[in-house]
Amino acid sequence: MDNIPFLDLVTPHMELRDELVKVFEGALATAGFIGGPSVSGFEAEFAEYCQAKHCVGVGSGTDALRFAFMAAGIGPGDAVVTVPHTFIATTEAISQSGARPVFVDIDEATYNIDPAGLRRYLEEKCQENSGRLIDQRTGLRVSAIVPVHLYGQTADMDPILEVAGEFGLQVFEDSCQAHGAQYFSRKENRWRTAGSMGRAAAFSFYPGKNLGACGEAGAITTDDEELAQKMRMIRDHGQRQKYYHQVEGYNGRLDSIQAGILRVKLRRLPEWTAGRQEAARRYRELLSDAGPAVTLPVEPEWARAVYHLYVIRIAERDQLMKHLGASGIGTGIHYPIPLHLQDAYREFGYAEGDFPVTERVAREIVSLPMFPGLTAEQQERVAAGVKTFAAASAGAGSPA
Ligand SMILES: Cc1ncc(COP(=O)(O)O)c(C=O)c1O
Repeated sequence: MDNIPFLDLVTPHMELRDELVKVFEGALATAGFIGGPSVSGFEAEFAEYCQAKHCVGVGSGTDALRFAFMAAGIGPGDAVVTVPHTFIATTEAISQSGARPVFVDIDEATYNIDPAGLRRYLEEKCQENSGRLIDQRTGLRVSAIVPVHLYGQTADMDPILEVAGEFGLQVFEDSCQAHGAQYFSRKENRWRTAGSMGRAAAFSFYPGKNLGACGEAGAITTDDEELAQKMRMIRDHGQRQKYYHQVEGYNGRLDSIQAGILRVKLRRLPEWTAGRQEAARRYRELLSDAGPAVTLPVEPEWARAVYHLYVIRIAERDQLMKHLGASGIGTGIHYPIPLHLQDAYREFGYAEGDFPVTERVAREIVSLPMFPGLTAEQQERVAAGVKTFAAASAGAGSPA
């Protein structure tokens, strides 16, 4: 029997081969490798897709977060609130802007920031001092919140935006895994798109993302024209006009070939997203009788997830991965070590037990194969593997 990969990146590229080759040929024929109409064209199309006024193409999702923070004036002396259950790029970007990440635990059902925990942190662990909100632990001024729309499902933005408004904090969406994810705002009584709700939002086009480049790429969306202009300057060595540098910036531009590739793929994204959503629906159905040991993803009525990842929870996670691996089924863990327990952040002085939900979740999650072309037959094999394992481990014996 054929193996079932965790992610199939080859098939969609082979399907688009001719269109992608044309992008390369066009760039070679004009030697237009940096900037130009393919970058501005992609920016306009992606802004529209996200229902945002502006899009600034950059070199990666990490650049996107970092440039947004810097343009918004976040830097030394600032604390930025996020979750320990995310990819380290979220906190790298905070640190590299000069600020310091502080953590709030996640909600056990959705794996995204817990809005009640966020409010508790701001009310109980911070204190107002001369109009500034000070994190008591670090003595730093709390200036922003970064909800991460993990696995392709938005955080619950209404209460986050509400508490941010109350405490005068900026909100930046880490939308790196959530291209096109929808959120129903009960407050505004309308569906909103990931990337249109905060002051700015960061997207990654790393090849494995729902919209992926053939290399590194990222983008920032925002409705704030002035912020967009600052981010354009920061991505291009701090210049608006060649060799007139208003600030020190970065070499962080989106290149024209990647932009051209992203334009081709953006046209396919709605269809790919529908494929992921259909695959998630099938998993839900196939695994509905997997028993109490297996927890499936929860999609609240206010969310329409785009299933960048399909993550289940089971106590004997490592054994399940081995069991599936023995049948040629690829799996992953996103993410095995919470950020507050990473060696890189030892200096922050966090300890085991500080964020118990994140810690529990990190021990038990496993990501099943998920990509647009995943077939019903492949999913039946994955589900059968999960169910055989769950049944065997619920009984006394070891799984077959
Ligand atoms: C949640 C999250 N934030 C940030 C990033 C950083 O994106 P990139 O790898 O494009 O720098 C990623 C992806 O890798 C991510 O998954």
